[in-house]
Amino acid sequence: MARVLILFAHPALHRSRINVALLEAVQGMEGVTFRDLYEEYPNLHIDFETEQELLLEHDVIVWQHPFYWYSAPAILKEWLDVVLEYGFAYGEGGTRLAGKKVMSALTTGGPADAYQRGGYNHYTVKELLAPFDQTARLCGMEYLDPFVIQGVRQLTDEQVRECAAAYRTRIEELRRLV
Ligand SMILES: Cc1cc2nc3c(=O)[nH]c(=O)nc-3n(C[C@H](O)[C@H](O)[C@H](O)COP(=O)(O)O)c2cc1C
Repeated sequence: MARVLILFAHPALHRSRINVALLEAVQGMEGVTFRDLYEEYPNLHIDFETEQELLLEHDVIVWQHPFYWYSAPAILKEWLDVVLEYGFAYGEGGTRLAGKKVMSALTTGGPADAYQRGGYNHYTVKELLAPFDQTARLCGMEYLDPFVIQGVRQLTDEQVRECAAAYRTRIEELRRLV
């Protein structure tokens, strides 16, 4: 079974409705490591060696976060900048992550129909995720289809529960990937 590492980035978890439901749904799953980056690094001083070791111990990486300005909250960008080092993740000798899989799991305030030509966000979510996709490619990793929940403010409590269950199912599927 694949070992899954969920790297979670939400700067205001106490105000979260949907991400908190998602993370509760996957807490304690066998073979799944959950890591709250803002909790680990409130000052954004990421320990890149610890993070690199964690990557090596897992087969599938999940970047879970709310969509902020068509991207991720700042700590995930900082994580990319300091952890995916030349010679480790890419460049000469940088093959340590090759063959692993990566998936974005994100929530958007905007509804699905806003994310298309003619919609107020113009681009699809997949198009907007191109930097994450290409980052994974450069590191020799496979970027999987993202898990996306949209229009989160309009969701009923029942729909939030369904989304959380769907997330757990997706993580179970990731466990079966290798
Ligand atoms: C700083 C900031 C930027 C945001 N940018 C976007 C955005 O670009 N697109 C979008 O659809 N929603 C955006 N939102 C809405 C969040 O994605 C939404 O509130 C979040 O997914 C809800 O998750 P939560 O309940 O776990 O906090 C933004 C929210 C904040 C606070």
